[in-house]
Amino acid sequence: MIPNWSQDKYVQAWDFACLAHRGQTYTGETDGVFYEYINHPATVAMEVIHALAQHPDYQGDVAVQCALLHDTLEDTATTYTQLRDIFGQPVAEGVKALSKDTSLPKAAQMADSLQRIRQQPHEVWLVKLADRISNLQYIPPHWSVEKVAAYRQEAQLILATLGEASPVLAQRLEAHIRCYGNTG
Ligand code: NI
Repeated sequence: MIPNWSQDKYVQAWDFACLAHRGQTYTGETDGVFYEYINHPATVAMEVIHALAQHPDYQGDVAVQCALLHDTLEDTATTYTQLRDIFGQPVAEGVKALSKDTSLPKAAQMADSLQRIRQQPHEVWLVKLADRISNLQYIPPHWSVEKVAAYRQEAQLILATLGEASPVLAQRLEAHIRCYGNTG
């Protein structure tokens, strides 16, 4: 089977994301363990590539580049115009939809983003499903029980809203939700 994404497009987005997120880290499962931030987009892209094998009709390059770049607007100095000029409009629009609108009240930001993602092609939906799979990998040590419960519930909303774009990712997200917060 011929893959529907290209290594060159992957490397182009990977290099950009590495520079954009340079110096950023996040805490691991144990306090005091820090990962390079780029670890997260790399995991999201891996999930997306895995899912693309089930969807030969999807524009793989858009999905992979959106995955690698999905946090650049929200968390770095990158602008929409830069993304559009370098990666093209479909990728820039996808990343924009995947970014929270911080002018809205915090409680409304996820529903708004999900609604904008649903107006995008399915390739962008895959990225949000993969993003939450990656973010459910473990619970940051400082999170309260309430925060964990809310995050789990939000994951269920993502699954219900976008799951139809990819049965393989929907299944993986469902499995991660089931295990999330089960410490017993
Ligand atoms: Ni993310």
